[in-house]
Amino acid sequence: MSIKLTWLGHSAFQVLIDGHPVLFDPFLSGNPVAAASPTQVSAEIIFLSHAHGDHYGDTVAIANRTGAKVVANNEIAIYIARQGVAATHGQNPGGSFDHGFVIAKWTVAFHSSSFPDGTYGGAPNGFILTAKASGKKLYFAGDTALFSDMSLIGDHGIDIAFLPIGDNYTMGIEDSVKAVKLIRPRYVVPMHYNTFPLLAQDANAWAERVKDETAAMPVVLPFGGSFELD
Ligand code: NI
Ligand code: MN
Repeated sequence: MSIKLTWLGHSAFQVLIDGHPVLFDPFLSGNPVAAASPTQVSAEIIFLSHAHGDHYGDTVAIANRTGAKVVANNEIAIYIARQGVAATHGQNPGGSFDHGFVIAKWTVAFHSSSFPDGTYGGAPNGFILTAKASGKKLYFAGDTALFSDMSLIGDHGIDIAFLPIGDNYTMGIEDSVKAVKLIRPRYVVPMHYNTFPLLAQDANAWAERVKDETAAMPVVLPFGGSFELD
């Protein structure tokens, strides 16, 4: 039983949770650095942090092909059900739900959230996942600014944190290093960078700072690269 994650570029991840495939924010078609096509990925559950096109991405097509359940905030769950997705589940910050092999707790994020067609997408989110078989805990921050209540998220005992470092729309390097200090994860994976010129960042410089200033181990992946936690 383990966690295996593969970075598909931007904030899109294919994650195996104790053998069950899930996706985070599957923005693949239209993603210039996508490491997989929407027809190549697999999912029992798609976890969606917010409605922006660079996260919502191929959610509907993948859910309809795989039969995956889409877990997102209530507004997104209702919108996606209207697009014809059979299985959706809405959560909001502070709430946990047992999805069978994984428990998801929804968290706040400081950002905005609307669909590409302008429809209101509710408040943006992150989420904490607890793998039931292995007990591993993942925190996916979504798109967010730094906020001090990340220390409360850290109190869960996070094994792997996924944090944006791209700046402009989210935390940049400086604030994400501060976030690592608050969250205190064992491992931290950077995301939401190097997708477009506007999000260009030196992830190795970020990793050096994480190593020097925090107790966490940075995991910098190439597009399509994987990391496994036993
Ligand atoms: Ni966004
Ligand atoms: Mn984004």
